[in-house]
Amino acid sequence: MTARRNKPNGIGMVPTIEWYGSHVRMIDQRKIPSRTDWYTCRGYRDVIKAIQKMVIRGAPAIGIAAGMGLALGAGSIRAKSFGSFMKKFERMGHEMLLARPTAVNLRWAVDRMAALARSMEGHSIEEIKAELRLESERMLNEDIEINKQIGENGEPLIPRGATILTHCNAGALATGGYGTALGVIRSAHRKGKKINVIADETRPWLQGLRLTAFELMREGIPVAVIADNAAGFLMRQKRIDLVITGADRIAANGDVANKIGTYQVAVLARTNKIPFYVAAPLSTIDPTIRNGDLIPVEERGAEEICIFRDRQVAPVGTQAINPAFDITPARYVSAIITEKGILRAPYKAAIKKILTAP
Ligand code: MRU
Repeated sequence: MTARRNKPNGIGMVPTIEWYGSHVRMIDQRKIPSRTDWYTCRGYRDVIKAIQKMVIRGAPAIGIAAGMGLALGAGSIRAKSFGSFMKKFERMGHEMLLARPTAVNLRWAVDRMAALARSMEGHSIEEIKAELRLESERMLNEDIEINKQIGENGEPLIPRGATILTHCNAGALATGGYGTALGVIRSAHRKGKKINVIADETRPWLQGLRLTAFELMREGIPVAVIADNAAGFLMRQKRIDLVITGADRIAANGDVANKIGTYQVAVLARTNKIPFYVAAPLSTIDPTIRNGDLIPVEERGAEEICIFRDRQVAPVGTQAINPAFDITPARYVSAIITEKGILRAPYKAAIKKILTAP
């Protein structure tokens, strides 16, 4: 089915994910820009599969999908007692946690759903199921509001007429709507700052070439795509004024896990004296992880590198190494833009303060 008009979420016509009757549906991001098809999930395992297969991707969007998936799963639980409901629900949560390892938003969402269910002891099972569904809807709506706030907080960092490099897709499609890095870009554009965006293609899934270009073009924000290996040259030619990316997990010391290729962009930005900003909700910060080296980095299959758009391009049997994320040490990060304000080095203290603020 082709997606039709829906609520405004930053990309005008296309929502990322929503409840559809008793099902959850999401735009199949593997098919953008050729098609905007719905992918329907009827059970929590369909959601796990959708996350693993990149139907839905981007840290905050994965978190929301996990929340909706668990509400979907809860709906199918047959249990007479609270204890047996919780046992089955928590088992689903464990399964959900294994879908993808790097984005901490997944764990954040699973923990939030489990905490809500646990707090409802004494209520009927049907009431708990209904409340879990509402909670997943709240996650979606809160995320859109958080992104708008990130956009508002980050916009003053963007000079009028700036050319901004971004990596991967940290836009409406990667979130409930509006986006984190693209949220800041959207806010600057809406303020009439006459910005231009350069999007790294972001091999191997081409999130920049396909998704970021798609989103920005729909909104009339000037965007040009580049091959990943062109960024350094353009920085040296002074054709990039700043870099802004999202994050999948931020360690307690400010080290940032994000899409593979982010680290080299950050190092190049430092070498060329260009600010490198990270935009992310507080739910992406993981205070339990001391530094970036402890963040689990997903390694995906060789076929993602060797096969391009269903065509084998590398010699058959070629080995490939395919880490999906990398770690950018905090010293390369000029600032972290959150919904509660802008964090600057020393990040350990700044993160502790913001996470414990009332
Ligand atoms: O593999 P993906 O597409 O899920 O990776 C996404 C990213 O790395 C994004 O930059 C990150 O999740 C931030 S999204 C607001």
